[in-house]
Amino acid sequence: MGSSVRAYAIRAEGIAAERERVSGDMNKFDIARVIELSDLELRAVGPRDVHMRILAVSAEHNVDHAALADTANIAEARGGKIYPGNSALGEVLAVGAEVTRFRPGDIVITHCNGEPDSFGFPSRIWAYDQPESIGWYGEEAVVGEWQLIPAPLECGLNLWEIAALPLRAPTAYHLWRRALGIFRIKVPRERRARLNVLGFGGGVSELFLMLAQAEGHRAFFCSGSPARREALEKLGIQGIDQKAFNRFATQDDVRAFRTEIRKITDGEDMHLVCDMLRGPVFSAGIAACAREGVNVSAGWQLSRVVDYNSATLSVKQITLDHTHYETITGCNAATELYGSVFRPAIHKEIYSFEDLPRCMREMHENTQTGIPIVRIATDLPKAVSGIVP
Ligand SMILES: NC(=O)c1ccc[n+]([C@@H]2O[C@H](COP(=O)([O-])OP(=O)(O)OC[C@H]3O[C@@H](n4cnc5c(N)ncnc54)[C@H](OP(=O)(O)O)[C@@H]3O)[C@@H](O)[C@H]2O)c1
Repeated sequence: MGSSVRAYAIRAEGIAAERERVSGDMNKFDIARVIELSDLELRAVGPRDVHMRILAVSAEHNVDHAALADTANIAEARGGKIYPGNSALGEVLAVGAEVTRFRPGDIVITHCNGEPDSFGFPSRIWAYDQPESIGWYGEEAVVGEWQLIPAPLECGLNLWEIAALPLRAPTAYHLWRRALGIFRIKVPRERRARLNVLGFGGGVSELFLMLAQAEGHRAFFCSGSPARREALEKLGIQGIDQKAFNRFATQDDVRAFRTEIRKITDGEDMHLVCDMLRGPVFSAGIAACAREGVNVSAGWQLSRVVDYNSATLSVKQITLDHTHYETITGCNAATELYGSVFRPAIHKEIYSFEDLPRCMREMHENTQTGIPIVRIATDLPKAVSGIVP
């Protein structure tokens, strides 16, 4: 028999009630009212399962999408209730008889590839659209051994920094290898070694730019947050104030941005662009793209639909690429780069378990200064005591 733990849930009824409370005005919608603390019956530990205690999680934007039901009403589609959370760091409590890679006391991180397709890419995401999947914004979880990766405790990052990466770092790693690979089909290294790389605000883009910077390219971060730009500038990544271009509200703003990009890249423009947001950011990213450039995105935070002039993109040989989360193999490779390449900026407050809904609200309001972390366990195991800041 499994045991009962506290875990956060999102109910379709809760979303409907909040929509009614604000009379459909989504600007007033409070996602903290929709992410509710609930009880969760853990399944019994099977032969290939791992029972773990969650120590810390990062707040992820797909929870925002689930609570708003803006991309899809995923809680309704999943039978009325989901348990979200697909980026966690935990301590192994017990393992099933056939588990070979982990034992009690190990510190692990998750990946969220829910259902790999025949080439290993996720057709579904764990704790989002993977049927029956239960997420990790809870005190404990039972997961398959295949869902865990050993936490790289010696990588030089502190505990919160490691907890920031399980979802965002593999996404950035995948975007990077795709963008670079596609560009290299068109322009080999022999002809151009150092590329101009642009990313727009957001944790995934920040990590994408760290990969570019680490490989010797010129990296530019266009964000509306001075704190987040400053954190990247310390790594040598040049900041561009997105608000100076009114977040691309009009075509004139996009034109002014294009002029600025021309200037700061000595007339070359951007060879690789990481979007993640779409909406007005998409036109700005396309305007900034160099000939043979590549625009990649795994997100659609501001809009799911994009509009472009196919003729112009053909003439400029620009490639648009759509990615999703990494393969499990790729998630393991991305984890190798914790600390050496990935050095995430963390939001200044580490939230408590009880404050998780407020953390999600503040992420939605875009007031955080780095990747938001929620500490789930009050007592932390000895294995991590040396890396708790
Ligand atoms: N497919 C996948 O596997 C995958 C994985 C991870 C994320 N995603 C998706 O990708 C998107 C970004 O994720 P993330 O983790 O990087 O998000 P994040 O760390 O929460 O950052 C979101 C960023 O959005 C920017 N932003 C907010 N409102 C904006 C506006 N009106 N105009 C322009 N920028 C605005 C902010 O940047 P500034 O204020 O700094 O400009 C903020 O830093 C989300 O939709 C997420 O669901 C997809």
